[in-house]
Amino acid sequence: MGKDRYLTFALCKGRLANQTLGLFEKIGISCQEISDPGTRKLIFVNEELKLRFFLAKGPDVPTYVEYGAADIGIVVRDIIMEEQRKVYEVLDLGFGKCRMCVCGPESARDLLNSQERIRVATKYPNIAKEYFYDQKNQTVEIIKLNGSIELAPIVGLSEVIVDIVETGSTLRENGLVVLEEVCPLSARVTVNPVSMRMENERITKLLQDLSACVSAGG
Ligand code: PRP
Repeated sequence: MGKDRYLTFALCKGRLANQTLGLFEKIGISCQEISDPGTRKLIFVNEELKLRFFLAKGPDVPTYVEYGAADIGIVVRDIIMEEQRKVYEVLDLGFGKCRMCVCGPESARDLLNSQERIRVATKYPNIAKEYFYDQKNQTVEIIKLNGSIELAPIVGLSEVIVDIVETGSTLRENGLVVLEEVCPLSARVTVNPVSMRMENERITKLLQDLSACVSAGG
């Protein structure tokens, strides 16, 4: 493709977008107006470098990348695992660190070692299914929720939850604990497979710069 084509980035709205833009600044890629907290604009252009950035809801980022509406997407890995889109996951950016865990009251620990058909509430049904069915060989009932997952075991909707734990304070304040760790998570760079071929030079250079910056401590 020609030199004039824009390379398009899908970023996850919120704190992760700010951290991502901070890292980009360090490798000489800036996009002033996107960091303006008052703006309602969703798309931003760096004319000089022929780059475009847009802000999307986290779970939509891999969708934009799979369809090629964005060449590159940056999200925490839970979303990549849950959405199961056809994208290349190419770089760990080292921030946005947290863990995907099975949590619940201490009293639920034994249920995880039994073959009982327990109920698991989660925002991540695919991750929960993969963990319980494929890794643990335990048949469970998965109940999809959209947020405030910690409520589920407290009010008796489920025995345990599969959710993100960052500082652990939501669990602590609600009398819950981590029972098992599913996997560690952090922000990842994803690339559309066709873009990776067609824009290989530009994307490889960008990944090298990002990787060097991350290795040097971000
Ligand atoms: C996430 C997650 C936990 C919490 C963990 O929820 O689902 O509830 O953060 O963070 P902590 O370990 O630092 O307490 P989020 O705030 O994204 O909102 P949600 O409840 O709507 O999912």
